[in-house]
Amino acid sequence: MGAFRNKAASFFPLAACCAAFFLFSVVGSSSPTLAPCDSGDQQALREFARSLVNGWTVLSSTWSKESSSCCSWEGVTCTEGINGGAAAVEVARVTDLRLPGRGLDGFISSSLGRLEQLANLDLSRNFLRGALPPELSGLVQLHLLNLSFNALSGPVGPAIAGLTSARFIDLSSNYFNGTDLSELGGFTRSIQVLDLSMNRFSGQISDEGISGCGAVLRELYLDDNSFSGDLPGSLFDLAALESLSLSSNSFSGFCPRG
Ligand SMILES: *[C@@H]1O[C@H](CO)[C@@H](O)[C@H](O)[C@H]1NC(C)=O
Ligand SMILES: *[C@@H]1O[C@H](CO)[C@@H](O)[C@H](O)[C@H]1NC(C)=O
Repeated sequence: MGAFRNKAASFFPLAACCAAFFLFSVVGSSSPTLAPCDSGDQQALREFARSLVNGWTVLSSTWSKESSSCCSWEGVTCTEGINGGAAAVEVARVTDLRLPGRGLDGFISSSLGRLEQLANLDLSRNFLRGALPPELSGLVQLHLLNLSFNALSGPVGPAIAGLTSARFIDLSSNYFNGTDLSELGGFTRSIQVLDLSMNRFSGQISDEGISGCGAVLRELYLDDNSFSGDLPGSLFDLAALESLSLSSNSFSGFCPRG
């Protein structure tokens, strides 16, 4: 009896210790979801969901109206404080919003422009419509913008002109209808892939528009639009270009020598 009690007594702290260790490792491994989300970011995401017809319905299993950390919401990834060190982390900032093919229906909220640490925005293959809010242009950290396969319309220049860090922009298969690629000019020298295919873009592609794209542009897709006029010579100066698609437009004249 005495021996048994003794054993139990020594076993218990060991079990407690193991349990604590186990908890610690589980918690430790998912620490990015633990820091509370920046309240401004959380508010911006709530407004995004609210501006959709079916936002809270589609996302209801994780996008909780009460939850204090939007970092655990479906499609949301956060970073911890830039100062590093677990102890320094008080709030986490949203870096990714990826909700491709979720059946989202409605308008894109201008509130996304306030997610100032956002690096990846993928809302492709949904039923988003209306214009792109110009506020998106404030996303200076944005690396990837993928809004392909939606029903978005209007010009794109105001929304993407300020995306100075963008490497991948895919706006294909929408109803966008800007008139001049020069409105994209100067928006980035870091762009590697630009896909504007299957839209209603029209007008001429200006030399300024193309030369605004820097030396790292690898893939440019302009097919299935209503672009017209001559092909600008600067198109052939894009040293890194590997893929170029211009088919199904109304280009005229001759290809400049290149
Ligand atoms: C954008 O999303 C579509 C569909 O989800 C995908 O096929 C495409 O490769 C993506 N584009 C980029 C540039 O990542
Ligand atoms: C783009 O489409 C809208 C709505 O159909 C129209 O009012 C506007 O004039 C179009 N703009 C261009 C440049 O085609």
